[in-house]
Amino acid sequence: MIRPPISRAEAMLLDQNDPLAAKQALFDLPDGVAHLVGHSLGPPPKGALDRLDAAQRDWARGLVRSWNSAGWIDLAERTGDRIAALIGAGPGEVIVADSVSVNLFKLAAAALPLARKYVLFVEEDEFPTDQYIVAGLGAISGADVRVLPPGGTAAALSAGGVFIHSVVNFRSGEVADIAAHEREANKHGALILWDLSHATGVLDLKLGAEGARLATGCTYKYLNGGPGAPSFVYAARELASKLATPLPGWMGHAAPFAFDGTYAPREGVARFASGTPPILSLEALSGALEAIEGLPLIQLQDKARALGALAIARAQGMGLEILSPADDSVRGGHVSVRIPEGYPVVQALAARGVMADFRVPDTVRFGFSPLFLSYETVWDAMDALANILSSRSWDQPQFHARARVT
Ligand SMILES: Cc1ncc(COP(=O)(O)O)c(C=O)c1O
Repeated sequence: MIRPPISRAEAMLLDQNDPLAAKQALFDLPDGVAHLVGHSLGPPPKGALDRLDAAQRDWARGLVRSWNSAGWIDLAERTGDRIAALIGAGPGEVIVADSVSVNLFKLAAAALPLARKYVLFVEEDEFPTDQYIVAGLGAISGADVRVLPPGGTAAALSAGGVFIHSVVNFRSGEVADIAAHEREANKHGALILWDLSHATGVLDLKLGAEGARLATGCTYKYLNGGPGAPSFVYAARELASKLATPLPGWMGHAAPFAFDGTYAPREGVARFASGTPPILSLEALSGALEAIEGLPLIQLQDKARALGALAIARAQGMGLEILSPADDSVRGGHVSVRIPEGYPVVQALAARGVMADFRVPDTVRFGFSPLFLSYETVWDAMDALANILSSRSWDQPQFHARARVT
């Protein structure tokens, strides 16, 4: 178990010895903001903003030639290879494309004919888009859909179908054991489609070594790729070329510029590229990755968990109910606490420069991106929370007005 700091001075000492401390300077964050919401949208790395500038020039000056001269045509694959290194996959096993929702659909549809049973499984506390995609795919494919109670993994795997599951639960932050689940899936002819949205960039992921075969995830959280940054698809090398995408677009064709009327998929995971990639977003993502590349993933995971342990200890001191695992080894990058008046509390925190998020009905989430947060920042943010709760300063009309995004 991690022993969290028990004073602000101790927190500052941890900052002095933090091997990631220098990374904060790579981000364009306003002064005085405690960005505890990198599990939702990461702030901009300066490298991402620089790449956006360069991309504007490539567009304006290079025009359509930039597909070749600026390397736009293979940017999704090159960026995929860089993401592969961050999730424990090999070169050629990842491509950037579409959104997580679309990729869940493509991968689940491609996996169904290869599983022992033509059945889709999802747990009822899974992120809603995963549940909607399962229901929608079930309706058009004729696959049975089984929605399981939380913790229903064993039932799903022994039944031998396709199981969609998050590595880090979006609400609790609990981490699933990829290797153990894959061993079980293999025994029963099941295929697991991992949702890495809350895991990429904050966990020491080893997809290949742990036997993961299919995954997708997002790049706008801990990879800091920007709002609406594209998602990625992972398919293990030995499986990828056996998969038929249900959205066979021209960018996944073996020879898109042959303009052949008959679809012939590219080798490997690249077949999951459907249409033209969003180059401006990809350029931003590509610049953002420079902030994280080359770091030991375990260092990121350790710091995120240490910051989370600090927040948990402080929140317990305030008498709050913790909804995330106390065991650091099974917790991802965020910590959730139950606060019935969570919405106005989050607004009152924002008014003091502390960014968190609220999830209905009563969950406040704090995210601990290891690249740009310090122990001191988290300590002070928890002071702000304690003050807002004890003074009830959250109970003002302006903090109760609901925005569309919470
Ligand atoms: C676990 C999980 N899956 C899927 C999504 C949605 O991804 P997208 O909007 O790229 O479809 C999110 C978004 O936050 C998420 O947290």
